[in-house]
Amino acid sequence: MKLLNGESITLGTCYYPEHWSGDLWEEDLTRMLANGIKTVRIAEFAWNKIEPEEGVFDYSFFDRFLDLTDRMGMQVIFGTPTATPPAWLTTKYPEVLNARQDGVLYRHGARRHYNYNSPVYQELSRRIVEKAAAHYAGRKSVIGWQIDNELNCELSEFYSESDTLAFREFLKKKYDTLAQLNQAWGTVFWNQTYTAWEEIFVPRTTCSDSTNPHEVLDYLRFISDSCCRFAKMQSDILRKYIKPGDFVTTNGLFGNLDNHRMREESLDFITYDSYPNFAYCLDAYQKEDRIRDRKWSRNLAETRAVSPIFGIMEQQSGANGWNTRMEAPTPEPGQLTLWTMQSIAHGSDYVSYFRWRTATMGTEIYWHGILDYSGRDNRRLAEVRSVHEKLQKMQQVSGARYEARVGILKDYDNIFDAQLDVWHGRVEKASQKALFEACQLTHTPFDYCYLDHVKDASELSGYQVLFYPHATIMTRKGKALLEDYVRNGGTLVVGCRSGYKDEHGQCVMDHLPGMLREVTGTDIPEYTMISPAEGGIVTVDWDGTAIDAAVFSDLLTPDQGAETPAETAGVYTSNYYAGTPALIRHPYGKGQAWYFGGAFTEKTAEVFLEKLGVIAPYGEILQAPETCEIAVREKDGVKYLFVLNYGKTPVEVTLKRQVKDLFDDKDVQGVQTLEGYGTKVYEIL
Ligand code: GAL
Repeated sequence: MKLLNGESITLGTCYYPEHWSGDLWEEDLTRMLANGIKTVRIAEFAWNKIEPEEGVFDYSFFDRFLDLTDRMGMQVIFGTPTATPPAWLTTKYPEVLNARQDGVLYRHGARRHYNYNSPVYQELSRRIVEKAAAHYAGRKSVIGWQIDNELNCELSEFYSESDTLAFREFLKKKYDTLAQLNQAWGTVFWNQTYTAWEEIFVPRTTCSDSTNPHEVLDYLRFISDSCCRFAKMQSDILRKYIKPGDFVTTNGLFGNLDNHRMREESLDFITYDSYPNFAYCLDAYQKEDRIRDRKWSRNLAETRAVSPIFGIMEQQSGANGWNTRMEAPTPEPGQLTLWTMQSIAHGSDYVSYFRWRTATMGTEIYWHGILDYSGRDNRRLAEVRSVHEKLQKMQQVSGARYEARVGILKDYDNIFDAQLDVWHGRVEKASQKALFEACQLTHTPFDYCYLDHVKDASELSGYQVLFYPHATIMTRKGKALLEDYVRNGGTLVVGCRSGYKDEHGQCVMDHLPGMLREVTGTDIPEYTMISPAEGGIVTVDWDGTAIDAAVFSDLLTPDQGAETPAETAGVYTSNYYAGTPALIRHPYGKGQAWYFGGAFTEKTAEVFLEKLGVIAPYGEILQAPETCEIAVREKDGVKYLFVLNYGKTPVEVTLKRQVKDLFDDKDVQGVQTLEGYGTKVYEIL
């Protein structure tokens, strides 16, 4: 592939030839090259420039642009323009529009106003993708394709008539008979039994603001399925035309979408759009937050779960702001480099800045790119140039894999279920935040692992410890994988509310934690939300260490039927159940499983990392203050250590052994100063 080939880490930018006079193009491209930018992403909103009228195709506009990129030796990622259907299309075929839940159509004027299931939209999308690919894919400078733009961004719920029709087909395929659907959705409750497929709709407005949860779970799966099919339809076409070595990708990670499936079916790799400056928007900034722009490391870890080596299609390079919302200041000197290195530290080998010039018209007039309105050389362009120079000194890092001994398990069923189930959502949200922050602040790298996309437990065996905070829905496949992982020596930690639902989201009539009972050696005779009178927290004594358990309490007991006896490792020390088990440890095969009765707080998660021996794995090489993130990428046995200072002020880091500073090209040891927003990449010798 011409990107992410393990040979280079490169820079690009998002360019909109249609926003500027053609007279500027050559000068812009020349300046890009002079500043280390070799690749541009173009055309993702420019349907009209190829099909100005229905069925009339005119390739001359992008041909002129590609003549230049071909001649100048630049690389182009071409976007399929389906995120913004033209006005002629939506006016003539209003059925392509998405609708609100109450049926009101989203009209032309913004973007993503279409739905995936309209046969007309599918047909017209197929045609524009086919025409664009047939014409442009052979061009020398075109190296890859981006499908649409940020699938499921802005809106990730679809309520058009086409969606209802497609939902019925999805359900027929899944359940075959209405009897099975009625069973799975528990429609006997409140007399919802369906007697004909035509009685089923995408969820509609209901009087009690509550819709059948099992139906909604299937609806979210349906949205994901619709989006994946739309992406595959495009990718199948693109693959007929792309040159050997060219790639197909898309950008962003959005909700109600199984990104893993989309990647497996349609993409060579995923790219992410990283805007850490959101952390400095007014509202966000007013909140006390030790994590701020480091939160984007969580998104980057999610991206890495989809593609271990990925690209950044849009990297923040200027101030945020549409004409209506989201103001944030211009990145300060050093921040653009810091955020670029944050992406690279997590596995990105391509970073493309959004955008070259700031738009002078439209919704995004305040969303700044590298250059301001005038286009004159500026501080941010100089910083891009200096990033390019730094990259020249660390090309050997390309293709290196992020290294983590801790895994946090997830799966799409539980993500979808947590959106609609308030209880699940509350515990899941709290624990995911806590685990991320504990890992981030203690310098403990972790990976997200999607259990529903794990084929064999051996894929998990590299993780010393796996957290699966609240796997509410548990499947047979998940159960088997977890048992195998632990049996073969792994350490599994699960939190409250595990295993009490089946794949339809119905509660199991079993001793909890249901399918996790065997591996955890735990029985849960009772459970309760923690009373607000307790402040939503109860305390636990874990072998003399006091920890908090948040939101919800499972009251535990070692399962008497377990083959190897489970032991009580911690007890509640507050509320009426003080003195009863809060933490159970179960030796299982060569490994062990832990059942923790609550949701995690950051401090609690830190104690788990500490007691399970996985905290700060690089502490013997480097000591750094909390304001720094530590990441390691490894290739051919060589490890590269990234140190990123998110603080505005300089900090000292101590290298406990000699390492090579790649930027300064010299061996260093001892105390080093990292300037405010400073970044370092060391080769561990
Ligand atoms: C991204 C999107 C871009 C641009 C940018 C700034 O989400 O892909 O097209 O809109 O945000 O708003």
